[in-house]
Amino acid sequence: MSVTDEIKARIDLVSYVQRHVPGLKKAGRNHKACCPFHDERTPSFVVNPARGSWYCFGACAEGGDLFSFAQKFHGWDFREALRELAAEAGVELRPQTPAQRQRSDRLEHLRSLLASAAEQYQRALQAAGGAALRDYLQRQRGISGETVKDFQLGYAPDSWDFMLRALRAIGYADDDIIAAGIAARSESGRVYDRFRNRLMIPIQDERGRVVAFGGRALDAADNAKYINSPQSEVFDKSRLLFGLHRARRAIREQEQAVIVEGYMDVIQAHQAGYTNVVAQMGTTMTEHQLRLLAPRLAERIVLALDADPAGQNATRRSLDVARATLARDFGGKQAVDIRVLQIPAGKDPDDFLRERADEWDALVAKARSIADFVIDLETMELPPDASLPQRRAIAHNLLPLLLAAEDDLFRQENVQKLARRLRMGERDLLALLPPQLPNYLTKKSLTPQLDQPAPDLPPEYWDNEYGQAPPDAEEMAPAPAVMAGRKPRQRDSAKPIAEAYCLRLFLQNPSLLPRVNRILRELAGRDEALMAGPLGDIGGEDFSESAFRILMAQLQASLNQHEKEPLEFIKSSIDSSLEAELGFLLVDDLEALAVSVQNRFEVDLNDIVKRRHYRARLVFSIEDDLLQRALQLRLARLDNERMELQYLQEEAQDGTETDEEHLQRINRSIMLSLQAKAKIDRALGLMAKPAQPTMTL
Ligand code: UTP
Ligand code: MN
Repeated sequence: MSVTDEIKARIDLVSYVQRHVPGLKKAGRNHKACCPFHDERTPSFVVNPARGSWYCFGACAEGGDLFSFAQKFHGWDFREALRELAAEAGVELRPQTPAQRQRSDRLEHLRSLLASAAEQYQRALQAAGGAALRDYLQRQRGISGETVKDFQLGYAPDSWDFMLRALRAIGYADDDIIAAGIAARSESGRVYDRFRNRLMIPIQDERGRVVAFGGRALDAADNAKYINSPQSEVFDKSRLLFGLHRARRAIREQEQAVIVEGYMDVIQAHQAGYTNVVAQMGTTMTEHQLRLLAPRLAERIVLALDADPAGQNATRRSLDVARATLARDFGGKQAVDIRVLQIPAGKDPDDFLRERADEWDALVAKARSIADFVIDLETMELPPDASLPQRRAIAHNLLPLLLAAEDDLFRQENVQKLARRLRMGERDLLALLPPQLPNYLTKKSLTPQLDQPAPDLPPEYWDNEYGQAPPDAEEMAPAPAVMAGRKPRQRDSAKPIAEAYCLRLFLQNPSLLPRVNRILRELAGRDEALMAGPLGDIGGEDFSESAFRILMAQLQASLNQHEKEPLEFIKSSIDSSLEAELGFLLVDDLEALAVSVQNRFEVDLNDIVKRRHYRARLVFSIEDDLLQRALQLRLARLDNERMELQYLQEEAQDGTETDEEHLQRINRSIMLSLQAKAKIDRALGLMAKPAQPTMTL
């Protein structure tokens, strides 16, 4: 049994969905509810326990299995879903070495300590001693009791050992309490509570686990408005965005994230229903933080930093980080749209939301482009009689940034605007371009710099308890759900890579195609139905990209003629738009292929970078590798087809007058498909080498 099957066998889909969609009710063989993924009044979201699948017959017209539900519901990608569901099911993804086990036990210990601390602070807020703070939150900060619960807000009483005593009482050692950042040790060796007389805001990691606290002073005379947990084994401030685990789903759905400065801004925004908001906790945005969001979850990032000078500076610095990061990734192409939001009247988002929550969306929509923002910022204080050198200095600073814009039109507008502000002609302005353009502006190709170290992986990898490295994207790719008529999304990108990879190998070695087909025939045994159906020759239908379908069909046709070499035949029979496609596929090195695929299918850069690290794995026999991948493509296709068949089956059964014959045909097809799947699964299982357990996924 594959890991995914084992997880599905252990987690009951209906109870899982029910936990997240409380309205789910039994209706005949199925369970029904209003779809959690779109607004509706009559239930069109169906869960079928027998086959462990769900489907929305309404606006989504989409369905899948446990994994796709969890992904969609939580905004996880497949890897995240696998990790979370495996943990829930108690399935070990990869056996840990004793050292890894020890480390993850240690981290787990610190996290449970922090979770207990959060509970104690929460309890203190609800107790009599917390009355004043509750009142302050409600009346002066406009934070409802529900939000207090939601964000697990708490109270650290004015005591040197309130939390120490509480944690010691349940058995935690001082050293661990200190390591978790809850207490500190003075030079004289005395251990004391770090947070005293403060509103306690738990900081949760990507997976919702408490890893730190922000503590806001309650006494105006206190000289530190906020005290935050120090860096620890479980908390790295620069790699965490406050609120991300709550915001992830909305960010993914809206493809837009709003970054604010502080805890209160996030809390207020979520309370008002704007759940795509996260905070960078008062510092400049780091590269890691940016990568948590873009381009994986969001294509647009709106910086809504405070309007005070500190906030403006933070915005400026954050933009620099963003620009440098994105420039490095995309060779200067700003693939992620970064915008800057200015809150009117010098307020912070928290203030604005408290007064005018309704206007938030409109405000976000009006966020300005980076260039726009920076031109204003830099020319705001320029006196009308500024000297030419003064104006030139500004031009020097800004031109590279303005010219980095992806869009020609944008570029032109920016330059015009700056020329106006500096009261210069456009041509004179452009003449001021610094002679030494930054690398990312001159680079023509989009090829990532291979000599550069790979960008740091987001914390889930760095904090990966299951092992050192995530496997290749396509090896992890789940059977895709039926998604009729939906535009391809970044997160569905693993499949085109796998497809491109197979097709490329077939094109380069056409003789491999008959060999793979022969294996399929062997798998079919002498069964005609299997041979004619689910175990038939590899063909266009095994590919989901239409260009690939056509090229594959042509390759097949080329093998049935003897006048031309296969490639020559294909080249002569396709139209010019496919020629480019073909050229890309025939490029010799994998990196170039990955990059061309990136251009075409917006593949997440991370996947490509990871591919590079795992290329070492690809050295075993090309034929074996291709065979495995081709069989995996076939499995994906069968899964897809079966899902369609199963809904046809359901329709046929639920109809008032059942067409027995029709139904039986469907049933037969499903059986055949399952038979084929079992045979392929077995074959893949036999092929998988023990050193590469993930191949069977
Ligand atoms: P602000 O000073 O804007 O605080 O700092 P705030 O969130 O608006 O808080 P209120 O509304 O006055 O209660 C923004 C963020 O910067 C970090 C915190 O994350 C805070 O939310 N910060 C600020 C610190 O870490 N330490 C500080 O001393 C101040
Ligand atoms: Mn504030």
